[in-house]
This record gives sequence, structure tokens and C-alpha cells, in this order.
Amino acid sequence: MIKIAPSILSADFSRLGDEVARAEKSGADIIHIDVMDGYFVPNITVGPPVVKAIRPYTKLPMDVHLMVKEPDRYIDKFYDAGADIISVHVEACTHLHSTIQSIKQKGIKAGVVLNPATPLSHIKWILNDIDMVLLMTVNPGFGGQKYIDSVTEKFRELKEMITKRGLDIDIEVDGGIRPDNIYKVTEAGANVIVAGSSIYNAPDMAQMIKTLRENSYK
Ligand code: DX5
Ligand code: ZN
Repeated sequence: MIKIAPSILSADFSRLGDEVARAEKSGADIIHIDVMDGYFVPNITVGPPVVKAIRPYTKLPMDVHLMVKEPDRYIDKFYDAGADIISVHVEACTHLHSTIQSIKQKGIKAGVVLNPATPLSHIKWILNDIDMVLLMTVNPGFGGQKYIDSVTEKFRELKEMITKRGLDIDIEVDGGIRPDNIYKVTEAGANVIVAGSSIYNAPDMAQMIKTLRENSYK
């Protein structure tokens, strides 16, 4: 089943609570929160206090995408703030297996993220320990960028790896997703779809989520 995850990176930051509630009301399945440290990626966004502040505004799962160097330092804090899924970049972790264990010990879902140029071989030995793989289809740091076409093939390979091992792991896509290219990635295996600018900049958010959902099947 396809899940639509609006990224609040393109929301109005002066009224984040309402923006999260609006996404839920418009038919979203998951709220995607982009955390950037100004070091792993050039941009800086929000931290645990903001995640905690928006938690009461939605019942949907909060998917926290950490674009942070050595994210181990913040797992406790994002868990306490109300995260349901915490995803870390393989490029940002020195001891990835241990980081994943720290997330799992909290009793929440652990995701691992790969930048466009990072090969799938990096997750070969931790695939059995995780709940989700997020493949970036833009270089992380900013919303509103163009989908990098060459990554489509990576979804197919990942799907094959997961199926071969008989695992039940979500495949998430993040970056440049709009109604005219969503089918390309769902057809290749993605089932959790992050979309920031296309959803938050749409004149009618509910209609946009509906269109994305419909287009993901054809
Ligand atoms: C990029 C973020 C994305 C971003 C997606 O670093 O991880 O979640 O907000 O935005 P769009 O959908 O506008 O490419
Ligand atoms: Zn993201």
C-alpha cells in the first residue's frame, strides 16, 4: 500500500502546528520532518523542541529524517519528542549497526537513508535489522529540487534485495516527487512517498494528495 508523507520543509514555519494538522486533514498518512544540522548538509532546520511542539497537532506517525552527523547523539531526544520513525544517513554514521540498535531499543521504527551516489552495498549487512530504507532522489539539504532520474534503477535493485531475503521493509523516496513522476518510483518499488514542495505549494492540498495517490498506481 502506498503511503503519502508530506515533508514540512515546505510548510509555513511560522505556523507549523496548523500546517501539520492541515496535512492530516488533507489525507496524508505520515508526517515527514527534515532535521538538518548545517554540517552534514548546508542547511539548518529544526530540532527536538520543534518536533515536541508539533506532536499534539497530529495523530499520524512522525517520520524524522536526520540529516545530522553522528546522529547517535540525538536519538534519545527525538524519541522523547515523539518520533515514531527515526531515519539516519549511512554517510553520517561511524557505527551504523550500533546506531540502528539504539533506535530499535526505543521500540520505534529504524530507517536508513542513502544519498543518490551511495551504493546499496552499504546496507547489505544491516538490512535484516531495519524497518525502512529511504533512497534520496535529490542531494539532501533543500526542498524544491529536481528528481535525479538515474536513481530510479536503484529502487528496482533494492526491491529485489528485499524480496530475495523475504523481508518486510518499507521503501521510501524523498526528493522532487510530483504527480508526473510518482509512478516511475512506485513502479520501481517505492511505497512511502515523501513530497514537500508539490504538496505544501499546491493550491488545494487535499486534491494534490489525492492526485499523487491515484497517479502512484498508473
Ligand atoms: C531534502 C529533504 C526532503 C525535501 C523534499 O533534503 O530531505 O524531504 O523536503 O522536498 P521536495 O519534495 O520539495 O523535493
Ligand atoms: Zn526528507
